Amino acid sequence: MNIQEILKERQKWFEWKNIKPLYEEVMKFQVPSYKFKTGDIIEIKTEENPEILELAKMLKPWRKGPFKINDIFIDSEWKSYIKWNTIKKFLNLENKDILDVGCNNGYHMFRMLEMNPKSITGFDPSALFNLQFEFINSFIKSNIEYKLLGVEHIPYYEKKFDTIFCMGVLYHRKDPIEMLKEVKKGLKKNGEIILDTLIIEGNEEIALSPIRYAKMKNIYFIPTLKTLYNWIEKAKFSHIEFIGKRYTTTNEQRKTKWIEGESLEHFLNKNQTKTIEGYELPLRVYLKIKP
Ligand SMILES: C[S@@+](CC[C@H](N)C(=O)[O-])C[C@H]1O[C@@H](n2cnc3c(N)ncnc32)[C@H](O)[C@@H]1O
Repeated sequence: MNIQEILKERQKWFEWKNIKPLYEEVMKFQVPSYKFKTGDIIEIKTEENPEILELAKMLKPWRKGPFKINDIFIDSEWKSYIKWNTIKKFLNLENKDILDVGCNNGYHMFRMLEMNPKSITGFDPSALFNLQFEFINSFIKSNIEYKLLGVEHIPYYEKKFDTIFCMGVLYHRKDPIEMLKEVKKGLKKNGEIILDTLIIEGNEEIALSPIRYAKMKNIYFIPTLKTLYNWIEKAKFSHIEFIGKRYTTTNEQRKTKWIEGESLEHFLNKNQTKTIEGYELPLRVYLKIKP
């Protein structure tokens, strides 16, 4: 299948039983006038309309954010600005073609608008997060393109992007070195990748490969920083810039009324010193890498 056929097939996901009513509501939703301002909270001011709250609630769970529409504060599970504030000093997106792979509802892409890129594209194979994006973008009316694709589709977009954000995706992939090679294919000459992934402490060249980690089943490998650097080298990158590393806290990821079910506090042990499975607390590293 070529990429147009893949995209056409995926458009049919909006016809699934649980997503179709949401899709129809979001598509018919009209916003007469609006103002928005980006900052840690993405704030939108528009005419009062009871449909806004109704639709925002239908679109739960809101993992990334926060967003504020008039007085409705969509207090997402993650305070995504903590990550954005960690990396933003290392970015220059002016007039660049950007891809955010695993973009979720686009919170970080809306923040990128502040930096005047030439284009922004988001890939995420989640119909629900795509609809959250469409809902927020119906106020913001940006030119951001959202595609229901995954990291594995980047090779269809060879040499198209100056900067690719790949945040919170690597540990979900069965073959992390192959994933790094796929992402590299999307880069133009002198392009760069902003990588954010889970690591474990230690100087050894090893990786944890748990059945579950902080209750997540879709996790394959969590390397030490040294092992991550080895993977990056094996994927034929030659520059690594260390941006920072930080433990995820229950201030950054926590249960709010905008998600159903559990959050980080339920994924850790009683004293919050280990994950519920007894592994180290979630630690993330942020890197800028170049071929
Ligand atoms: C842990 S979240 C990270 C979201 C965001 N990048 C951030 O850093 O806050 C992982 C995201 O990857 C998406 N995802 C799932 N499968 C994917 C794939 N094959 N390629 C890219 N993203 C994928 C999920 O839908 C989810 O939005």
